[in-house]
Amino acid sequence: MKVAIGADHGGYRLKEAVIPSIEALGHEVVDLGCDCEDSVDYPDYALPVCEKVASGEADRGILICGTGIGMTIAANKIPGIRCALVHDLFSAKVTREHNDSNVLAMGERVVGPGIALEIVKTWLETDFSEGARHQNRIRKMKELEDRYTLHP
Ligand code: RB5
Repeated sequence: MKVAIGADHGGYRLKEAVIPSIEALGHEVVDLGCDCEDSVDYPDYALPVCEKVASGEADRGILICGTGIGMTIAANKIPGIRCALVHDLFSAKVTREHNDSNVLAMGERVVGPGIALEIVKTWLETDFSEGARHQNRIRKMKELEDRYTLHP
């Protein structure tokens, strides 16, 4: 898969730590910054990652900030994005199976690099269940998005 990744200053070091692991799993990584620990604004990094995913240029996206919360809120403003904030392995698996999440968010100040790498691996390697009840719920979320998106 092609995986787009972005972080703010609060997630920069974890981004640098997970990139080689994603590549070692056989995926292509598109690193959209940031490039150092200087203070930046997380929406500026959520947007390019989510645009790549929403347009189909990337298969999945990964966003990292201090808590993962700002990135999650920003990402879920973008039509077509289902961003899951994940800090445990159960959620990493189930958000793929149930929500078909296409962007993963994590907080560098919440999880250590060991569990973060396992979360990324699990999330990348788990398929959507394709279950009818889950497809129906995703369809309903798309309807909400369509209803409230004034300027796509
Ligand atoms: C930056 O200080 C911090 O607010 C940001 O990384 C993130 O945690 C926001 O949700």
